[in-house]
Amino acid sequence: MSSEVSAAFAPGRVNLIGEHTDYNLGLALPFAIAEGVTVRARVLDPGPAGEARVSAHAADLGERDEFLLSEVPAGEGWRAFVRGTVAELARAGFPLVGSSLEIAGNLQQGAGLSSSAALEVALALALIDLGSPAVGELDRMDIARLCSRVENDWVGAQTGLLDQIASLYGAADTALCVDFRALEVTPVPLHLGGWRLVLLHSGERHANASSGYNERRAECARACELLGVDSLREADRAAVERLPDPERLRAQHILGENERVREAVRALESEDLPRLGELLNASHASLRDLFQISTPAVEVAVQSLLRAGASGARLMGGGFGGSVLGLFAPEFTAPPAAREVRPSAGAHLLRD
Ligand code: GLA
Repeated sequence: MSSEVSAAFAPGRVNLIGEHTDYNLGLALPFAIAEGVTVRARVLDPGPAGEARVSAHAADLGERDEFLLSEVPAGEGWRAFVRGTVAELARAGFPLVGSSLEIAGNLQQGAGLSSSAALEVALALALIDLGSPAVGELDRMDIARLCSRVENDWVGAQTGLLDQIASLYGAADTALCVDFRALEVTPVPLHLGGWRLVLLHSGERHANASSGYNERRAECARACELLGVDSLREADRAAVERLPDPERLRAQHILGENERVREAVRALESEDLPRLGELLNASHASLRDLFQISTPAVEVAVQSLLRAGASGARLMGGGFGGSVLGLFAPEFTAPPAAREVRPSAGAHLLRD
């Protein structure tokens, strides 16, 4: 039995530290933020030919899409996410019904805050609930994997599981230590006291599918091949030093970044925020010099946070644009263009 309406909210994410580690089966420390995407779904009567269809309205863009549930075509832009999520849910055996989808969000797109993962997750939760509200507790890791297939196979971004896990597992005042090899999520209380985490947009739009993201992923895969390991998580430091460039630089970043995530967890456990700031700076230097995914606009944004007194600042997410993250001690004021972010609730159904 399906209900007539359903609605779900899924948040975007900030990644405190642990960048490009997800598809290298390493560690990261993201949290869900308050902003995200809301999908309202209602059962749609079959079309004139009696076939179940999906009709979607992207309210923020003023655009529409419509397709048959039995024959989901490939698409571009936001349509690729909607079509891909519907198709992957059907393929995974979730009972879907013809539906009308209203999509709205308050998450800046292209800001590196995972508006795409928020869209996939909100769509998945609303569509599953509309088709079979009695489905009960979903396995969030299965949903994360399903949404990531949408990115990989429908959108063409070879991203990992970071964004979807952060959106699905987020909780107020909590960062999530994610181990991508064990696929384990450990909540880490994020007590900021009077300190603030802020985001500053570099002004450069970020898109995984069209940036150098897939190239970095391929370079990491090549480093694994040369080292004879399944993932850079297992790479031996001495062997990494003998790799040619750029594979050596990419692998050095991953090894160092996994260690910084461990140290960041220790810093949060001991409420040592100055140490967290140092780790953010070290992560940025590694992303800029070893992983080479910074841009002049990102550097300007990082410098402006540091000049304003940030204890640490770094590029965040896939790189090549988007927002930078800064950590400020209570006595400093972030630049006016920066806005504060707080760890907030993860994806959930809206019952109103
Ligand atoms: C993007 C991807 C994630 C992750 C980050 C980098 O946000 O979607 O899977 O790889 O970049 O850490």
